[in-house]
Amino acid sequence: MSDPHTRTVRAPDWRELSARYDGMVPRILPAADLFFRCCSDCVPRGRVEVLELGSGTGYATERLLRRNPRARVTCLDRSADMLAIAAAKPALKRVELVQGDIRDGLPTRRFDVVFTTLCLHHLANRERQAAVGRVFRVLRRGSCFINGDVFRPGAAWEERLLRERWFRFMRAQGMAPSEARAMLAKRRANQSCLDTMRGWRGKLQRAGFARIFNPLTIEFYAVFVAYK
Ligand SMILES: C[S@@+](CC[C@H](N)C(=O)[O-])C[C@H]1O[C@@H](n2cnc3c(N)ncnc32)[C@H](O)[C@@H]1O
Repeated sequence: MSDPHTRTVRAPDWRELSARYDGMVPRILPAADLFFRCCSDCVPRGRVEVLELGSGTGYATERLLRRNPRARVTCLDRSADMLAIAAAKPALKRVELVQGDIRDGLPTRRFDVVFTTLCLHHLANRERQAAVGRVFRVLRRGSCFINGDVFRPGAAWEERLLRERWFRFMRAQGMAPSEARAMLAKRRANQSCLDTMRGWRGKLQRAGFARIFNPLTIEFYAVFVAYK
């Protein structure tokens, strides 16, 4: 078996997915509205400068701007196809969209918030730790890092129960059995690359974050806010 510390989660084909991504989110993420509302609610009000990592089609960005229309957002994503969908959204016309890979570094200026959803689990364990270190460095003192992402539980029995529940959820959203099974197969294939919530806290602490808050956990998904 390959080393989970260095193995990157098998990347989806964003070119194929980009056009149907926004419609898929509520079908694969239980309580998607609550999840994104929680992430957006944690962004301070007013003219804050936000760096969003792995912003994709801008699904979360739109929701963030609805909560705080005065936020100045810079989005970084490596997929031109996902960015093209974001660029066509009128609600995102003031957002700066940058194509780039988190693993190659972050913008050099400072931000009040680093925000990311459903992205960092695509990095290998070591890459994720390196990314958290970079996030800490681009944040101003007193600012925060908001991450809503996918995790794995520590025990196999819990993972089994969560998968059964996830399958029923996707079916209840109208997903075909074969499609729901394909989602489960992807999770199984990438399982060892995911962080546990405890492992994620450890990464945040090692990067220098002292105050770590976990306002929401839904099934495999959780939101963490770490203050610098
Ligand atoms: C599941 S989508 C999430 C999009 C958006 N944040 C959301 O919540 O809807 C993951 C996104 O992360 C981006 N991504 C994955 N790895 C990346 C990396 N190393 N650097 C930049 N973007 C990355 C992908 O291109 C994709 O757009």
